[in-house]
Amino acid sequence: MSMSIGGSRVALAVPPRRTLLEALRYDLDLVGTKQGCDKGDCGACTVIVDGTAVLSCLTLALEADGKEVRTVETLAGAPHIDPLLDCFDSVGGGQCGFCTPGMLMTTTALLDKRPCPTRDEIKLAISGNLCRCTGYGRIVDAVELAAKIKRGEAKGGEGLPGMECSPPPLPSNTKGAREGKGG
Ligand code: FES
Ligand code: FES
Repeated sequence: MSMSIGGSRVALAVPPRRTLLEALRYDLDLVGTKQGCDKGDCGACTVIVDGTAVLSCLTLALEADGKEVRTVETLAGAPHIDPLLDCFDSVGGGQCGFCTPGMLMTTTALLDKRPCPTRDEIKLAISGNLCRCTGYGRIVDAVELAAKIKRGEAKGGEGLPGMECSPPPLPSNTKGAREGKGG
C-alpha cells in the first residue's frame, strides 16, 4: 500500500488487519498520534484521511491506500507552523498533552470545513475527544483564537503563528520504502 503523509508518498507492506494507528506509530515512527483506548472511545488517535477526521485505531491501514493522511506532525510543516499549535500552547489548551494530537487533528478538520465555527460547533466537534486535564474550556478558547488568526482577524503573540519553521522529520518510514516527494 502507499499513502501520502505531509506531501511525502510513503509505501509500506502491512498485514490485512494492521490498523492505521499501528502503521503510523510502529511502521513509520510517527508517534505523535497517540494510542489511548485502542477501541474508539477516546479520540487520541484521530488523524485526517482525505480531509475527514478518523479514528486511526478503528481504521485499517489498507483503507488509507492511495489517500492523503495528515497526522499531528504535518501541522508543523514548512513554511508555517499551524496557528493551532501555538494557540493550544499559549492559551493553555493542554496539560499532560496526551489528548492534544487528537484534539488538534479533530479541530484542524473542523476549521478546514468551517473557518468561523461557533463555540458550540467546536464543542460538538471535540465531543469524541476525551481530555482528563483541562476541563475543555481552554481547548475551545484555543480553537477560537486559531480560527481568528487563520481568518486574519487576530494576531498571535510571541512565537505565535506565521513563524518560519524547518521542515519536519516526516516520515522516517524506516520499514517502508519511500517513493519521493509530491504525490
Ligand atoms: S485510541 Fe482510538 S479512540 Fe482511543
Ligand atoms: S491535556 Fe491531558 S488528557 Fe488532555
